[in-house]
Amino acid sequence: MHPYMRINTEATFLLVLSILRFSMTDDFDWRYNGTSGPEHWPEHVPTCGGRSQSPVDIHSSKYNSSLGNFNFTGNDATGTDMYMIKNHGYTIQVDIKKNNITMSGGGLSSEYTAAQFHFHWGGNSLRGSEHTLYGKRYPMELHIVYYKTSLGSIADAVDSNQTDSLAVLGFFFEVTSSDNEDLAPILSQLDNVHYANSSNLVSLSSNFSLKSILPNLDGPQTYHRYSGSLTTPSCLEVVIWTVFESMIGISERQLALLREVLETEEGETPEKQLYDNYRPLQEIGSRSITTSTFHWSYEEELNTGPSKWVLHYETCGGNRQSPIDIPREKDVQYAENLGFIKFCGYDEMRVHKIKNNGHTLQVDIRGNFYISGGGLGARYQVAQFHFHWAKTSNRGSEHTFDGTAFPMELHIVHFKEEYGSIAEALNHPDGLAVLGFMFKVSPADSDSYGSLLQKSSDVEYYGESTNTSFIQLMQLLPIKQENLQFFRYNGSLTTPPCTEAVIWTVFTDPVSISEKQLQELRDLNHIPKPSISVTYGTIETNYRPVQRLNGRRVLKNFQILQLSAGSGTISTGTMLSVVIGISFLVTRNH
Ligand SMILES: *[C@@H]1O[C@H](CO)[C@@H](O)[C@H](O)[C@H]1NC(C)=O
Ligand SMILES: *[C@@H]1O[C@H](CO)[C@@H](O)[C@H](O)[C@H]1NC(C)=O
Ligand SMILES: *[C@@H]1O[C@H](CO)[C@@H](O)[C@H](O)[C@H]1NC(C)=O
Ligand SMILES: *[C@@H]1O[C@H](CO)[C@@H](O)[C@H](O)[C@H]1NC(C)=O
Ligand SMILES: *[C@@H]1O[C@H](CO)[C@@H](O)[C@H](O)[C@H]1NC(C)=O
Ligand SMILES: *[C@@H]1O[C@H](CO)[C@@H](O)[C@H](O)[C@H]1NC(C)=O
Ligand SMILES: *[C@@H]1O[C@H](CO)[C@@H](O)[C@H](O)[C@H]1NC(C)=O
Ligand SMILES: *[C@@H]1O[C@H](CO)[C@@H](O)[C@H](O)[C@H]1NC(C)=O
Ligand SMILES: *[C@@H]1O[C@H](CO)[C@@H](O)[C@H](O)[C@H]1NC(C)=O
Ligand SMILES: [Zn+2]
Ligand SMILES: [Zn+2]
Repeated sequence: MHPYMRINTEATFLLVLSILRFSMTDDFDWRYNGTSGPEHWPEHVPTCGGRSQSPVDIHSSKYNSSLGNFNFTGNDATGTDMYMIKNHGYTIQVDIKKNNITMSGGGLSSEYTAAQFHFHWGGNSLRGSEHTLYGKRYPMELHIVYYKTSLGSIADAVDSNQTDSLAVLGFFFEVTSSDNEDLAPILSQLDNVHYANSSNLVSLSSNFSLKSILPNLDGPQTYHRYSGSLTTPSCLEVVIWTVFESMIGISERQLALLREVLETEEGETPEKQLYDNYRPLQEIGSRSITTSTFHWSYEEELNTGPSKWVLHYETCGGNRQSPIDIPREKDVQYAENLGFIKFCGYDEMRVHKIKNNGHTLQVDIRGNFYISGGGLGARYQVAQFHFHWAKTSNRGSEHTFDGTAFPMELHIVHFKEEYGSIAEALNHPDGLAVLGFMFKVSPADSDSYGSLLQKSSDVEYYGESTNTSFIQLMQLLPIKQENLQFFRYNGSLTTPPCTEAVIWTVFTDPVSISEKQLQELRDLNHIPKPSISVTYGTIETNYRPVQRLNGRRVLKNFQILQLSAGSGTISTGTMLSVVIGISFLVTRNH
C-alpha cells in the first residue's frame, strides 16, 4: 500500500472532508499539486466539478440585514483532552472532543456544533488562504467546521448531503511584526505532530480555548455568506460558508513553524514539507454572496446604494440634502449682497496629500488657505478637495443645472475657521462651505490637472496615498478667476452621514478636462490592491442623485450670466446657455 493511502483513508474520515462510504473518493490519493492536484479532482470525484464549489473570491457582496451576529456558546471551554491536535498529511487539525461548543444566529436557521478546526497556509506569506477577499489572498486561513446539531454528528451531517449540513467559519490571518501569543498552545505542539500520522493525537494545554485564537467578535460581526462545498475531495456541496473580515495576527516566525511540518510519514523519504495546502478559486457562477455589514456605496444592486443610505444614516432622509438640481437661472433669485468669493493662499505652490479613500480621489490640503466674502460671513479654511464622476461623460456631476449633468464635479471642502476642525464644524448648520465646480470635456488635456492626475496612478487602490507634486489650488479653478458667478443654497454632505452643515456655492463657469483625463479617474479602484487579477473594483460612478429642494431658496450672485474670457468660446457659451436656459445672453456676450 502506498504510504499515502493509509493517511488518506484516515484523513478523509477524520477530516470528514470526504467519507469512506463514498467509494469514488476512497481510492483517490488526492494532492494539492501534480497529476492528483485540484484540476484532476473532478476526473476522480465528479462532485469536485460541481457548480457550488469552494473556495471563491469574495467580492460584490450584497448587504442582507438578516445576517445578524452569531451567538457563540461554549467556545471559551477549556479542559484536558478537549482539544486534540494532529497532522494527517493535508493539514494540522484540532479535533474538538466535546460536543458542547455551539453557535446559532448569524442568519443560520438552526444550531450548529463545532467538530474540528484546521488551517490552510502557503509556502510564503503572499499565498495560503483558500478564499480571497476582493482579490486578496492572505498567508493563512482558519476553518472551524460545525455540523447541524440536529443531524447528530459530523459524519451523519456530511452523509445527509444537505446544502446546510455543515457551517464552516473562515478567518484570514495577516502578518504582524510580533508573535501572536494566543497561537502558542497550538504552535508549541507542532514538534509533536511533525510527521503525518492521523493516529497521533496530542492534547493541547488544558487552558486552551477556541475563543482565545479568534478575533474579538463582541461588536458587530462583519462577514460574508455563500453556499459552497468542502474544499477537499469529496467536495460535497453541503457547506454554508461564513468568511469573516476581522483577521487573526501571526508573525512570519510563527508561519515558518507551520511550514516546517511534514506531509510525509516518519521514515518516509524524501521528506516533504506541508504547505500550499489550499485549493484554487472556484467559479461563483449563479450563486450570490451576501454580507452582514452595511458599507455605503453607489451600487444599488448591492443594497447599499444612495437609495438605501437613509436606512442606516437617518440624516440622509433630511429636508436640506445635497446635491440638488439648480433651477433655471431665470427662476433663481439674485442676491445683491452675496458679492464674490475671495480666495486667500490659493495661489501658493504646495505639496499636499493625495489619497484613494475608496469612494473618490481626495487631496488633503497642507497649510492654512481660506475663502471669505461671497456672503459667507466668515473665513472658511480649506481642508480637502475631491471629485465626483460617472462611467460616461453624459453625467457624473452631483449638482445639475436645470436637469443637465456635467461629466465631473470638483468639491473643495472648507470649514468655518472659528470651529477649528471639520469634526467640530459638522455640528453647526454653517460649519462647512463647499465650492462646487462643474467640468466640461475638451479635446486637449488640461495642464493644470495633468500633474495631479499623474499622481493618481500611485493611488490606484483604496487605502493608498502619496504626496502630490507642487500644485496651486488656483490652477484647479476655471480659467476666469475674478468675480466668479455662482449659485448659493443651504445643503448637506453628499455622502453618509449626509450631515446638514454645508453652505453650498456652485459655480457656473466650468473647468476643462479631456476625456482621457476623466478616464484616469474612472480607472481608480474602490477595493484595496488585490493579489490576483480581478475584473471588478473600479470606481465607475460616484455621484449621489439630486435631492428634493423642499422649499429651500437658491440664490445667485449675478444678474446676468457672464461667460469667462478663457472658456468663452462660442461653443462654451452655447453649452452654458443651453444648460442654464438663457440663450439670449450668448448673443449679448459675444
Ligand atoms: C508543484 O509542482 C511543481 C511542478 O511539479 C513544482 O515545481 C512545485 O515545486 C510543486 N509545489 C509544491 C508546493 O509542491
Ligand atoms: C445564545 O445561545 C444560548 C444557548 O443556545 C442561549 O441560551 C442564549 O439565549 C442565546 N443568546 C442570544 C442573545 O440569542
Ligand atoms: C463543555 O465541556 C467542557 C469539558 O467538559 C467544560 O469544561 C465546559 O464547561 C462545557 N461547556 C459548556 C458550555 O457546557
Ligand atoms: C438574507 O439572509 C436570511 C438569513 O440567512 C435568508 O433567509 C435570506 O434568504 C437572505 N436574503 C437574501 C436576499 O439573500
Ligand atoms: C449529494 O447531493 C447532490 C445534490 O442533490 C447530488 O448531485 C449528489 O450526487 C449527492 N452526492 C452524494 C454522494 O450523495
Ligand atoms: C502514529 O502515531 C501512533 C500514536 O502516537 C504511534 O503508535 C504510531 O507508531 C505512529 N505511526 C507511525 C507510522 O509513526
Ligand atoms: C497555559 O498552560 C501552559 C502550559 O500548561 C502555560 O505555560 C501557560 O502559562 C498557561 N497560560 C495561561 C494563560 O494560563
Ligand atoms: C510628503 O510631504 C510631507 C510634507 O512636505 C513630508 O513631510 C513627507 O515626508 C512626504 N511624504 C512622502 C512619502 O514623500
Ligand atoms: C441658510 O441658512 C441660514 C441660517 O438659517 C440663513 O440665514 C440663510 O439665509 C440661508 N441661506 C439660503 C441661501 O437660504
Ligand atoms: Zn479547510
Ligand atoms: Zn463631494
